[in-house]
Amino acid sequence: MSSPHQQKTSIRLEACGKTFGDGTLALEPMTLDIKGGETIVFLGPSGCGKTTTLRIIAGLESPDAGGRIFFDDQEVTNLPIELRNVGMVFQSYALFPNMSVEQNIAYGLKIRKLPREEINSRVEEMLDMMHIEELRHRTVDQLSGGQRQRVALARAIAVCPKVLLLDEPLTALDALLRERLRIDIDRLLRGLGITTVYVTHDQAEAMSLGDRIVVMDKGRAAQVGTPREIYFHPKETFVADFIGTMNRISGVAADGQFTTTGGSMSWQSDQNGSVDLMFRPENAELTDNQSNAFTGTVATSFFLGDRTRIIIEGIGDEKITIETGNRVELVQGDEISIAIDPESLVSL
Ligand SMILES: Nc1ncnc2c1ncn2[C@@H]1O[C@H](COP(=O)(O)OP(=O)(O)O)[C@@H](O)[C@H]1O
Ligand SMILES: [Mg+2]
Repeated sequence: MSSPHQQKTSIRLEACGKTFGDGTLALEPMTLDIKGGETIVFLGPSGCGKTTTLRIIAGLESPDAGGRIFFDDQEVTNLPIELRNVGMVFQSYALFPNMSVEQNIAYGLKIRKLPREEINSRVEEMLDMMHIEELRHRTVDQLSGGQRQRVALARAIAVCPKVLLLDEPLTALDALLRERLRIDIDRLLRGLGITTVYVTHDQAEAMSLGDRIVVMDKGRAAQVGTPREIYFHPKETFVADFIGTMNRISGVAADGQFTTTGGSMSWQSDQNGSVDLMFRPENAELTDNQSNAFTGTVATSFFLGDRTRIIIEGIGDEKITIETGNRVELVQGDEISIAIDPESLVSL
């Protein structure tokens, strides 16, 4: 872009909580540092406080007493949204229906009283960046959902905001469009390097877009970390269960061995006695060995083309799901053994 976002704005939430007038505790006091240029994703089920957090950052909602927000070193807690220089995109397209695509994109620039020349060139840039040149003269009601979100993004970015705030921008789109626009947004955010806060309930979106993810549970940040940290090292059962498939096996740890009704494996740990261990489907594989392995029976198997998903019972109390790239044909009741990568075991 000709007017790049040279300085990357960092955001600091300091003990920002939110209790609504009716007594609803939407957000427990949260302290979080978002780095300049970072894309941070708030991920969690509906009602966990994602939008509230975003609105506090935007200046549409003020935090409870004691909460403070900073953009770089500037405290913005009492600064209204129009003075915070944020760009926002929502799930429902808040575009002006009676204006053309061009006019929608130019809107914020006109409000800021930029010279006409500059407005025109910025609009061109945005049309080009979002691949919507051919839509410039259409009105909003002549656009598909995906096209509207492209215009909404263009309008939000056109004003060179310090911070970009996106609230479930893909949720209203069908799966294929969602996937395509997600890839474009990813490229866009990496190219712009603008500090972005992205809210979603979709774990695949969070994993692919976020430099870091904040997993939210009932108004609380359950865990903050990179997608890999969140996936491989969940700190709470809520996080482990919310993201991907996590297997759970209960057994007994003693003398460097973990033993269940289905077998045992070596597992170095300080823990002794009953333990629940967790692992991801991709961290176990079929084996012919009886030692350092667990044996159960096939409950179901699904051929997925490139992989086969196998549901196994009899290894612990719960069924276990594994995925294998091996060409196997299994039927219900077949006896099979699996080896679990000890590095992948999570104990909570
Ligand atoms: N203006 C409001 N007044 C009262 N309760 C609200 C208000 N806005 C949101 N809430 C409640 O706060 C909680 C968090 O809402 P929200 O931040 O919208 O969640 P999410 O975006 O994660 O779905 C919910 O229980 C919701 O019903
Ligand atoms: Mg929401």
